[in-house]
Amino acid sequence: MRFLITAGPTREPLDPVRFLSNRSSGKMGYALASAALEARHEVVLVSGPVCIAPPRGAEMVRVTTADEMADTVQTRMNTGCDVFIMCAAVADFKPREVRPGKIKKADGLTHIELVPTRDILATVDLPRDRRVIIVGFAAESDALAENAQKKLVVKRCDFICANDITRMDTGFDADSNELTLFFRDGSQTHLPRASKLDLARKIIKICITFAEKD
Ligand code: PMT
Repeated sequence: MRFLITAGPTREPLDPVRFLSNRSSGKMGYALASAALEARHEVVLVSGPVCIAPPRGAEMVRVTTADEMADTVQTRMNTGCDVFIMCAAVADFKPREVRPGKIKKADGLTHIELVPTRDILATVDLPRDRRVIIVGFAAESDALAENAQKKLVVKRCDFICANDITRMDTGFDADSNELTLFFRDGSQTHLPRASKLDLARKIIKICITFAEKD
């Protein structure tokens, strides 16, 4: 099977030196890519800027902004994939205007006007002639189940993996994670805290079970 996986943050430039971004390290997405490769599947890994080594055997596509990630995901979706896992922490907003020159401290900056980025998971065009298993992630600081279940539906996922991003030992930049998976039939599975690679192996197995059922 072919897996299309996104990982890491996006960066939304304000001027040639400054950008808006977030704390995603890419570890969770890269672990998913490693687990899919380990299970002998093909992997296209669309990655925002991170400081970790790419998994050996993955086809890497490096992007910077949310727009670049959206375009790359659409192109790769069009050329064919069986499982799409959106693990990247895409910036939800970008500066309306990107200044061509460095904003000078002496000129002052009292506000930055932001506009929403494209929601990749919710809007990517899916193929009509091919079933694609869609997996989302939900980064939550409160009402985890309620928020994740809403995203599951709005973002058309087969299942969504929710993590609590207020803790130091899970979520952003941690080596481990703890996830609750919410499925379209209303069921849920809790995956207790474990290394990101162990959790990734479980998620890949579930994806394969889904694909075999269809
Ligand atoms: O990279 P690490 O340091 O290992 O951290 C892992 C992680 C915390 C980044 C990861 O486990 C995680 O939660 N990824 C999703 C982060 C996120 O953006 O969550 P969200 O709840 O804001 O978005 C929900 C879903 O919509 C996600 O699948 C996201 O990729 C997607 N999305 C969000 C915004 C946007 N513009 N386009 C999207 O496709």
